Amino acid sequence: MTSQAKTASPTLSEVTAKRWSRRGVIAGASALAIAAAPSCATSGAAPIRRRQVNAPAAPLSFQPVASTMADTVTLPPGYIADVLIGWSDPLFEATRAGYDTNTMSRIEQERRFGANNDMLALLPATFGADPRGRWLLCANHEYADPFLMYPDLKGRGWSGMNAERWSATYAAVGVSVVEVEEEATRWRVAYGQRNRRITAFTPVAFTGPAASHPWIVRAGVLVNAHEPGQESSLVRCGTLANCAGGLTPWGTFLSVEENFNYSFFVSDADAPALRNARSDQALVLDAASFAWPLFDGLPRPGAPRQFDTAENPTVAALYGWTVEIDPYDPLSIPKKRTALGRRTGENATVALSSDHRVVVYSGDDQANEFIYKFISRDRFRADAPRANMNLLDEGDLYAARFEEDGAGRWIKLDRSAANRAAAATGALHRFNDDGDLMVRARLAARLLGATPMDRPEDIEVLKGDDWVGLGPILVVCTKNLEHGAERPGNPRRGEDLDHAQANLAGHILRIDEAGGDLSALRFTWDVFVIAGDPAAGEEILRTRSGAPLHASLAWGGQPTATGDRFACPDNLALDGAGNLFITTDGSDDVFGDCNDSVLACPIEHPGPKPIKRFLVGPVGCEICGPVITPSRSAFLLAIQHPGESDRSGKRYSDAVLEGSAERPSSAWPEGGEAWPRSSVIVIRREDGGPIGS
Ligand code: FEO
Ligand code: CA
Ligand code: CA
Repeated sequence: MTSQAKTASPTLSEVTAKRWSRRGVIAGASALAIAAAPSCATSGAAPIRRRQVNAPAAPLSFQPVASTMADTVTLPPGYIADVLIGWSDPLFEATRAGYDTNTMSRIEQERRFGANNDMLALLPATFGADPRGRWLLCANHEYADPFLMYPDLKGRGWSGMNAERWSATYAAVGVSVVEVEEEATRWRVAYGQRNRRITAFTPVAFTGPAASHPWIVRAGVLVNAHEPGQESSLVRCGTLANCAGGLTPWGTFLSVEENFNYSFFVSDADAPALRNARSDQALVLDAASFAWPLFDGLPRPGAPRQFDTAENPTVAALYGWTVEIDPYDPLSIPKKRTALGRRTGENATVALSSDHRVVVYSGDDQANEFIYKFISRDRFRADAPRANMNLLDEGDLYAARFEEDGAGRWIKLDRSAANRAAAATGALHRFNDDGDLMVRARLAARLLGATPMDRPEDIEVLKGDDWVGLGPILVVCTKNLEHGAERPGNPRRGEDLDHAQANLAGHILRIDEAGGDLSALRFTWDVFVIAGDPAAGEEILRTRSGAPLHASLAWGGQPTATGDRFACPDNLALDGAGNLFITTDGSDDVFGDCNDSVLACPIEHPGPKPIKRFLVGPVGCEICGPVITPSRSAFLLAIQHPGESDRSGKRYSDAVLEGSAERPSSAWPEGGEAWPRSSVIVIRREDGGPIGS
């Protein structure tokens, strides 16, 4: 990495003395938030909207679930879970016949539910109306593991892949839109008119400042050369690596592209196009930042050529965006909203400022990357929902900077300022225009002094029925394996820089915007909860792989939580009744006696948060996409990649390639000898009561 990539943020060694007395100074973030100076850029007179925050939470009276490595969904007594839909299930009446997944082709996958379901979102079947038991379910599909898709790869390894199968894996990612019906005792798929698959081949439009960026234009031409179609103004590159996202108040779904770098391959590391591309310093930096293959990489014989960087060296610029999809119109074109910046994006959580501008909070889920906030130029119009469809094309993008004293500010990604900062590092190249700034937003954020985070994942905002933010913003930092990550916002640092200081278990931060207005440019922050083991004290434990683990969840000498242990929080859901539900991804790597789980606690609680384990998933899964219906009658979750690894953490694909595989460690959901399948579940109470209470 060149000097350009160095952060301008202060390190702990410069500021640590201030840090450890901080928690005593702020008895609670609420007090600070109210006292904080309002943003100069926003309505300082805006009322502080905290009415729901301070309401007592509905008690979480469920009986917590014990740690388990059972290959099933384990729930508290009185709760039941049904599978709604899973990978390869049909989306249309015409494909409802049984299917041998070993023959899964691209065309068949384009008509069936995708792989590795991640974020879920529910919209009323008729926009703005009472859902009356009929919903549109939007589901992200993050990636496709050929070894879990095709059982007959066991014993054959990569030699069992061919062109048809590779194409099917690219058709297995993206988004599914599914009409679903909520009945008294069960939810079921409706084979409705709006059911739809969006894949890595779907025509999309690039909008906003980077729409004509030379990397995007060049890559788009090459994609369209390989993917048949007539749409001259569109790029048939679809969407990849769809992790989390968000919903908008005008009824669209935001799907965010995360680890897109794994989608590309290199057929020839000495190809002329690739060699020429290496002379572009900005592209070299981009490849280093996102870890996509510009210099070398593995081939994928038969895979779609548009994903081969030897032929299409700027293909990575087509991904890493926030994709806006109108699920109410199955013919609508997905839009890549470049004004929100490019990153390995986890989420895009939307709420409104006090003056009804649209605010989007996003995490960049890579170690030492940043948290972003977009503020639209124009205001949301509640009286004309369709007039809002392009609000995400004009606005300002900011990145968060955390200070040691609990203050913070949003740094505008301004091209002139970024170029001045680049010049100060001695770098030779500049951000050419605002589009270039958005393509390389994470570099601009770093140059301008944003605070590197411990893999920021989901962000949730407490908001009212009118979508106006009410306060607090909760930010998940899932973990950081790098040692000595000394900076504000990482509570596991600095005490003694020994081998156990990597933040293996993660934490959740709380941000309160100045004046309670989401368009504020200053905020206060605090630790909401540190993930770990309440019983660990200062003891150094061992992870499943034997790594030293600082599992204490104390901060500044005070415990941040009591109750059940967990690690690696990923997604969040608010239940509308004052409680937070937390899903985990990789908790089993840290506490090897329990599969990934769902935990719950009240949002506002004096003293340590009482953490209760609500659910444990099957072996080898991560748990994603938590959605609780407004009436709290049902809780939807995406169980992703059961069986991907076994109870010791060994990946099934590695076992296949070593020739030691017998079968995946999970048979969920069907059980018996069935192959595991990522699936969506619906959890209800047997007595019909509200979830959690
Ligand atoms: Fe796809 Fe950041 O989890
Ligand atoms: Ca995630
Ligand atoms: Ca994750």
